[in-house]
Amino acid sequence: MTDLLLLPGDGIGPEVTAQVRRVAERLAPDLAIDERPFGGTSYDRHGTPLTDEALALAKASKAVLMGAVGGPQWAGVPRDKRPEAGLLALRAGMEVFANLRPALCFEPLADASTLKREVVEGLDIMIVRELIGGIYFGSPRFIEEIPGGKRAVDTQVYTTPEIERIGRVAFELARKRRNKVTSCEKSNVMDSGLLWREVITDLHQRDYADVQLEHMLADNAAMQLVKNPRQFDVIVTDNLFGDILSDEASQLTGSLGLLPSAALGEPGRPGLYEPIHGSAPDIAGKGIANPLAAILSFEMALRWSLDRPDLADRLFAAVGRALEKGARTPDLGGKLTTIQMGEAVLAEL
Ligand code: NAD
Ligand code: IPM
Ligand code: MN
Repeated sequence: MTDLLLLPGDGIGPEVTAQVRRVAERLAPDLAIDERPFGGTSYDRHGTPLTDEALALAKASKAVLMGAVGGPQWAGVPRDKRPEAGLLALRAGMEVFANLRPALCFEPLADASTLKREVVEGLDIMIVRELIGGIYFGSPRFIEEIPGGKRAVDTQVYTTPEIERIGRVAFELARKRRNKVTSCEKSNVMDSGLLWREVITDLHQRDYADVQLEHMLADNAAMQLVKNPRQFDVIVTDNLFGDILSDEASQLTGSLGLLPSAALGEPGRPGLYEPIHGSAPDIAGKGIANPLAAILSFEMALRWSLDRPDLADRLFAAVGRALEKGARTPDLGGKLTTIQMGEAVLAEL
């Protein structure tokens, strides 16, 4: 049985996952690791961004670690065959509805953010993003010709059970943290936002009245994140707002290249682990991408899917020590290559 399936993907994806493999082989030599092409790389080889075989293997593995997908090479490919469509199909196929995106500020990096140290120091936010619903998956969805041009339609759909299950994940996490949940939507303009607020409020009253709940419109949340980010503990939000707010939150920590994620489904099912960044076409092939988001995604896999919290702790501490000693890729203002950053972590293990 495969313990860890690596899907390196495109652009910097293979560069950062190569460092995950080195770390995994050192830290957990007994892990059975497998690898498959994914995204544009799979499209070029197999005519599809996600083969049936790769999806079946993903579902039969304990954990899947994805690098990144996409790039300008595939801009002309039909939408359902694009690298990003493969990622959505993987998330939906694995039924990983809860995407945990932690944004925390490592002390040695408190001056690496474009925000002031006193704003970001000690930051520890957990964004819980609904991952397999909302406007990413709603139908109808199409582009059609109309007189005078075209008409494009996307549809946002959420149901009570979908909102409730992601709400539960957020409240449960909050209980183990600082006991506060901020739920973000646009209930002032969207029906799906209204339902979101209603379901989260009911769930809170019914089962989680001990947790502090706050509702915040998503636009205000985007502003509050840069004004006073430490007011947040757990943020729960939909697929699209979660995507945007997590990229924003990453910059509070110093770099997009630092933020990992875990996508989880029902207990016992495999998790999907991904850095939240993309394939970074502007730096792909240069060997300078920050591998820490991918390495920290493996750390989350050790914790949430591979049942090795001890190794997760060791890895997390090693990353912290490497940063303390000044290890920095160019996105953090340093000079290390991707491989050298991987080595800096290995040296601390
Ligand atoms: P991006 O996340 O790829 O890059 C945004 C910026 O952040 C770029 O300047 C890039 O150089 C920098 N960056 C990202 N990761 C970095 C890292 N590890 N180290 C240093 N710098 C890093 O977003 P984009 O440019 O908008 O998208 C590029 C492609 O990636 C698109 O095709 C998009 O669809 C895809 N994408 C994929 C994923 C994913 O696979 N999970 C996520 C986001 C975007
Ligand atoms: C992410 C990415 C993906 C998303 C894209 C590539 C489908 O931006 O993982 O954050 O929007 O979910
Ligand atoms: Mn994103």
